[in-house]
Amino acid sequence: MTTTRLGDLIVSPIGFGCMALSHVYGGTTDEAARATLGAAVDAGITFLDTSDVYGKPREGASRPAGTNEEMLAPFLAKRRDEVQLATKFGITAPRDGTDATAKRTDGRPEYARSACDASLARLGVETIDLYYHHRPDPDMPIEETVGAMAELIEAGKIRHIGLSEVTSEELRRAHAVHPIAALQSEWSLWSRDVEGRVVPACAELGVGFVPYSPLGRGFLTGTLTKEQVAGDFRGGTSRMGEAWDANQKIVEIVAEVARRHDATNAQVALAWLLHRAAQMGVSAVPIPGSRKPERALENLGAVDLRLDADDMTQLDSIRSLVEGSRNIVNNPTWISSGRE
Ligand SMILES: NC(=O)c1ccc[n+]([C@@H]2O[C@H](COP(=O)([O-])OP(=O)(O)OC[C@H]3O[C@@H](n4cnc5c(N)ncnc54)[C@H](OP(=O)(O)O)[C@@H]3O)[C@@H](O)[C@H]2O)c1
Repeated sequence: MTTTRLGDLIVSPIGFGCMALSHVYGGTTDEAARATLGAAVDAGITFLDTSDVYGKPREGASRPAGTNEEMLAPFLAKRRDEVQLATKFGITAPRDGTDATAKRTDGRPEYARSACDASLARLGVETIDLYYHHRPDPDMPIEETVGAMAELIEAGKIRHIGLSEVTSEELRRAHAVHPIAALQSEWSLWSRDVEGRVVPACAELGVGFVPYSPLGRGFLTGTLTKEQVAGDFRGGTSRMGEAWDANQKIVEIVAEVARRHDATNAQVALAWLLHRAAQMGVSAVPIPGSRKPERALENLGAVDLRLDADDMTQLDSIRSLVEGSRNIVNNPTWISSGRE
């Protein structure tokens, strides 16, 4: 299996997003989740992505409950040495449709320290390989947050620093304090705003890129139904709510390319990301998530799929066809493009 670098961190070329192993898009049992992870790691997908806010929130808890991290702990107890483990801190409250402006982030140095200790304890590990600040805190200069994360490296609690949904300017300021190994933001065939400034800044600074929701939260695979997404938060997003029917033409384009290569839509969507990242000179590791072991293996197959110039042109046309915003909360500043 080939590997990819995110800064100085060496990982598998496709990672595994653990968020959807919990309730968010339907969920599964913890035991089944760990069986899927086992199959993924056996196949060579060794870069695992979680966060202290993934998993079911606990009633009345004033801090992220970390139930997805807790699910991972028994798995890590057996296979810690085989994986590169990434987790995140900084989102402090669940998504809430009632007040889009409510503050939901914390980047204070003391919070970074306590959140890291809480994640280490829940995961049952001594060190986190890649520790991300999940969302910038508008009340805290990013230099302060990253300074505290650099101290966590010195303390041996984390190995590398990552940032999620930062602008190119926030990345530059953070990188001046301590090298950033990876920037994680949404990037896929239907979410391309990061190609404007964020990806070029990563390429220039030698920062790796971790595209999240690389399958468009499942939409690009063509396997979702309207009824299915109506049952979780995706049905409330503009792209998969009111624009569901209009956006089907996107799925058809992906399917057409997939048929030509005897591949699946998921493989085409991931292969496109790897090709596009190479064109833009950035090292990128998408982190699709699935509850099904066979899909994790299918997704890894994207590494061997070669798209030609005609495929890339056809897939590029999706960009102008997308209806609806990628933001899932009614607050434009929640994602990098809303602050640039
Ligand atoms: N930094 C951030 O703010 C942020 C935000 C969102 C996500 N993330 C990270 O990114 C990871 C991935 O994002 P995501 O889960 O939102 O979206 P995604 O990976 O684009 O899509 C996940 C969905 O696609 C389905 N799927 C996966 N492989 C498939 C295949 N081969 N064929 C058909 N369907 C397939 C899964 O359904 P089944 O389970 O039914 O297979 C799942 O519902 C998360 O786990 C999380 O680690 C980070």
